[in-house]
Formats: sequence, C-alpha cells, structure tokens
Amino acid sequence: MSDPDLYPVPPAWAQRARMTKSEYEAARIAARETPDVFWAGQARRLDWMTAPTSIKDVSFDKADFRIRWFGDGVLNVAWNCLDRHLAERSDETAIIWEGDEPTQSGGLTYRELHAEVCRMANVLKGLGVVKGDRVTLYLPMIPAAAVAMLACARIGAVHSVVFGGFSPDSLAGRIEDCGSKIVITADEGLRGGKRVPLKANVDAALERPGAGVVETVLIISHTNADIPITAGRDVRYGEAKHGVSADCPCEPMNAEDPLFILYTSGSTGKPKGVLHTTGGYLFWAAWTHELVFDYRPGEVFWCTADVGWVTGHSYCVYGPLANGATTLMFEGVPNYPDYSRFWQVIDKHQVEIFYTAPTALRALMREGDGPVKATSRKSLRLLGSVGEPINPEAWRWYHEIVGEGRCPIVDTWWQTETGGILVSPLPGATDLKPGSATKPLPGVELQLVDADGVVLEGAASGNLCITDSWPGQMRTVWGDHQRFFDTYFSAYPGRYFTGDGCRRDEDGYYWITGRVDDVINVSGHRMGTAEVESALVLHGAVAEAAVVGFPHDIKGQGIYAYVTLNAGVEPHDDLKRALVIHVRKEIGPIAAPDVIHWAPGLPKTRSGKIMRRILRKIAEGEIDALGDTSTLADPGVVEELVKGASKPR
Ligand code: PRX
Repeated sequence: MSDPDLYPVPPAWAQRARMTKSEYEAARIAARETPDVFWAGQARRLDWMTAPTSIKDVSFDKADFRIRWFGDGVLNVAWNCLDRHLAERSDETAIIWEGDEPTQSGGLTYRELHAEVCRMANVLKGLGVVKGDRVTLYLPMIPAAAVAMLACARIGAVHSVVFGGFSPDSLAGRIEDCGSKIVITADEGLRGGKRVPLKANVDAALERPGAGVVETVLIISHTNADIPITAGRDVRYGEAKHGVSADCPCEPMNAEDPLFILYTSGSTGKPKGVLHTTGGYLFWAAWTHELVFDYRPGEVFWCTADVGWVTGHSYCVYGPLANGATTLMFEGVPNYPDYSRFWQVIDKHQVEIFYTAPTALRALMREGDGPVKATSRKSLRLLGSVGEPINPEAWRWYHEIVGEGRCPIVDTWWQTETGGILVSPLPGATDLKPGSATKPLPGVELQLVDADGVVLEGAASGNLCITDSWPGQMRTVWGDHQRFFDTYFSAYPGRYFTGDGCRRDEDGYYWITGRVDDVINVSGHRMGTAEVESALVLHGAVAEAAVVGFPHDIKGQGIYAYVTLNAGVEPHDDLKRALVIHVRKEIGPIAAPDVIHWAPGLPKTRSGKIMRRILRKIAEGEIDALGDTSTLADPGVVEELVKGASKPR
C-alpha cells in the first residue's frame, strides 16, 4: 500500500549532497543520452593500467546479444583496493574486525592488508594457481576472507565464495560446477557462541565424487581447533606463508576478465554461478558505495552481510576498499550475547554508516526499544536496508529509534545479478517514503510490464524489467551462457527481467513487492523452491514435494512444504522433524522448512503441472481466495489440503 508519509531531504543533507536533486536529474539524462561520455567520465574514479576507449558495447537482442563495458581497459582490482591508497592512507584502518565474542576484535591498516594480500597471493601462486583458475572460499567473517578474495584478484584467479552456512553437499556442488582445484577454508567459524565446523564440512564435501577435482585445501587457523589433516592435500596457511614475500605484482586484467563467481538460487534447477567481471563490477561497487551511502573519507562503514552473499562482496569488501574506506567485518549475530550487540558495536567502533537487512531489524524490534536505547549511537549518520522489502513499521522503528530521527534511510534494491545497488534514494537528493526503494540510479532504466509483456505507463503494478545495461551487470552463468540468456532475456525480449513484482506510484516511486517466480526470500536470503523440493524427495519416505513461501513476521517469507509420503509410510511428527533435519543437512540451515504439511495429493492440471498458485493461497491461509480450480485433474485434492491446513501448525 502506498504510504502517505514523505520524509523530505533534511536541509543539511541537501546542502552538502554528493549529488543534488538537479544533478541527479542531469545525470539520468546524460547516462541515457550520451552513455559513452558519461560512463567514461565516471570510470576515471578507478586506476586503469590502460584506460578504456570502448565504453559501452551492449545488446539485449537475441541476434547480437552481448554485454561489454570498458572492453579494452586494463586494470587490477587489488591494485584499486589497496596499492593506490598506500601513498595517502597506509596507516589508516582498512578493516575493523569484530569477533563473535565482544572481547575479540582487531583490524588491519591498508599497509598491513596490502602485505597480507601479497603474501596470500604468493602462497596461491606457489600452490600452482594461475590467472583464470577458480578458487573456492569457505570462510567465516574474518579479515582472511577479504584477504583471500583480494589475493585471487591480484593474480587473476576467479573466486567463488560459498557461504559458511551451506552444507557439505551444497559446497561440493559449487566446487564441482566451477571446477576449482583449491579450497580456502578455516578450522572453524563462530556464530552466536556456536562453532561452525568449516574444515570438517570441507572434508565431507570432498568425499563427494564431483568434488574430486580439489587438489589442495588451504586452512586458516581461527579457533585453533584440533582438526584432522590429510597429508598431500591439506596445507596450513600459517605454515605456508612463513618466509613468503610480501611483494607480489598485480596481474594486468582486461576489464571483461572474470573477477568472481557467486552461486545464487533461481526458479529451476541447481543454483547458478553468476559471473561478474573486473572493470564494470568494481566500478559499480565503488561508485554506488560512495553515491548511495554518501561515503566521506575517514568514515567507518559497516555492512552486516556475510561475504558469502553478494552484499558482502560489494559492500563489505570491494566498494568500501576501492574507495579507501574503513570497513567493519562482524563475525557474530545481532542477538549474541544480547540484543544490544549491533548498537554496542556501533558505539565501540564509532560507525557512521550502517547497512543491514529488514529481517534483522524485525527480530530486534520485537525485543522492544530498551536494548537500543541502552546505547548511544551518536556516531551514526546514515542507515541502509537491503535484501527484501522493508515494511513501513520496521522502517519507522529504524528511523525513529535506531537513528533517532536524524539519519536518512537508504532502502537499496538490487540482486546478485546486478553487482550493486540499482534502485535507492540518494540521501541528499531523494525524499523518502517508508517501504519504497524510491528511484533508479542514473543509468538504470526500469520498466513495468504485464504478464504479456505490455509496457505499463504511469502509476501501475507489474513485473520489473530493465531495458538497458549498467556496468555492474552479470555477464554470464558460469559454464552455461544459454541459461543466462534464457533466464533473464527471453521472458520479455530485449529486456532484462528481474523476477520481481513492483508497483510504481503517482510520484514515480518504485515499491518492490517481492518475487513473482519460484524463488523465495527467507530472511533476505534467496532460496529456490525447486532446491528444497529436490532435497525433500531425496528422503526415502517422500514420494513428492511442493514448496512455496508464506508471509513470516520475522523472516519476511517462511518455507512451507507440502509433502506426499510413499505408500505405506505413516505421517507423524517425528518424521516432520526428520525431514527438517534432512533438508538442513542437504542444503543448510537457511533452507529448513518452517511448515511441513502432509499432502495426500498435490493439485495438478491435467497435463501434470502443479498449481502453485493454489498451494500459495492455502499456505497464506487465504482459503477463500483459491480461485478457479476447475482445470485441476482432481479438484478433490484441494479440499483435502484445506482440511489439513486448518489444523494447528
Ligand atoms: O526480491 C528482491 C530482493 O532480493 C532479491 C535479490 O536477492 P539476492 O540476489 O540474494 O540479493 C540480495 C541482496 C542484494 C531481489 O530480486 N530484494 C533485494 N533488495 C530489496 C529486495 N526487495 C525489496 N527491497 C529491497 N531493498
């Protein structure tokens, strides 16, 4: 619903805006009408070994489909994030690290980070890693994660970071897909006082046949846990780096050379390896970090995302470091040791800019204002939100209680595929409406279409498309370029389809309403319903499964699984628990179903297609709005399901 409230740009912000309202309008026109001139100028923020002369070379049409930015430019990402800052800020803090326990913290200056990255780059080279090789990272939120990413970038290796919460099977699938011969991990991670057995998970993953390509496991010591070592394969980083030079030249990379692969869930099949390249991605991460967060030199910037997600890539590591910022990496969780943790960390490190997800805010809001008000938060000047729609209630709480009414909120819409923020207020230029990501950044051309692809003008609701490219756009799905085209450019020819539904109001503000495909957003994490279904049917008791999302107070969406058991298997609560454990083991805890609903049958059309629309309605408790069920092969199935749903969950 449209929110009548408008929060105008505070006058002090308008005065010192990085981009004023009129500059924003001018930049939008310039990016649209003279893209080569506009982006060539903006891209000078990076240090190029060879400046690009070819700027934008793009077509979304099937016949000559291509996405290339700064195509003849040469640069190195690690150089841009480290070396070029050394002259001016070698003693400034690059990374502040806050551990899981409040007693654990540390940090690295730019000089120290540079030396660490060079050492790890040399260790990787010594292990035979060369330009273009893939390196899988399975690490906790410790500076070594950023070091490893930048070490790969320095020598031209392509990193694939796998979130530490994923299971051995998920890790194995990602290793196999990109064929990485080396995995960098840690003995253990820590989260909320619990140990995460990362190395043990790697060992389990490498037992899977597909992961047999791995020749080396490089292990960072974090908790100093006692871990088994496989001779000939496992290498302790602490030993390997002994005596290694802290000098390592940067590999010259073409702007279109791959920088990283990051796996993300889609509506069908296995997670796909989203590929980002060197020049366009780094530019977009850096430009948006400065513009959207109004970043000023010397400020402390804290993005709470894990580096296992794209938000962690772009706004914990690449964007802030490319801008010479101080970035805070937090290993812990918002509620450990208590619900004041985020705000205590802000006070401890005098954080100016804070960027988190609505799911965390909702969980904290539920605990009342006390844990927030027990802290000062005077250092804060800007707040950000990402990952899912922020409900106006959570927005207001963030604004009034956390930010004491003084900090603008940037609600940033983007995706793994987009590399960085595409739709967001600019704090010095955009009046805010709680719950709206407001307007597209310069160069981002949005379009709403109906299911038939008819373009909707003015105030309207539809499917969100983007009609032109931006430098941070993904370039391909690793190993499957056809899937890239089919997934994003075939539904509405000539346009990139985001998979999101969206409303544009009478002021031209955009309100993202959530996914319109079979992807669900659980606590700001993307999950393909097909993945959870595949995991469920691997269990011996399960004949068939259908998974949908349902509204969840804290998580945004929860996972609702309809399960049909094999003949002769009795439904009972122990089996429900066993299935939840099974999915956690197959994919990871984030995929654990919230509800399992025994389904004697699933509603299918006569051609055998599951009618998810009906399953969604039942999961949402909207049993009066099931719509037309006459095309079902067996309409009686729906009645059974509705009966099952009325029982307490
Ligand atoms: O549905 C949108 C939602 O998150 C999806 C992208 O997920 P992922 O690739 O994991 O990246 C998350 C972090 C960038 C989008 O398709 N989403 C992300 N940000 C917002 C959002 N929905 C509403 N408002 C947002 N600010």
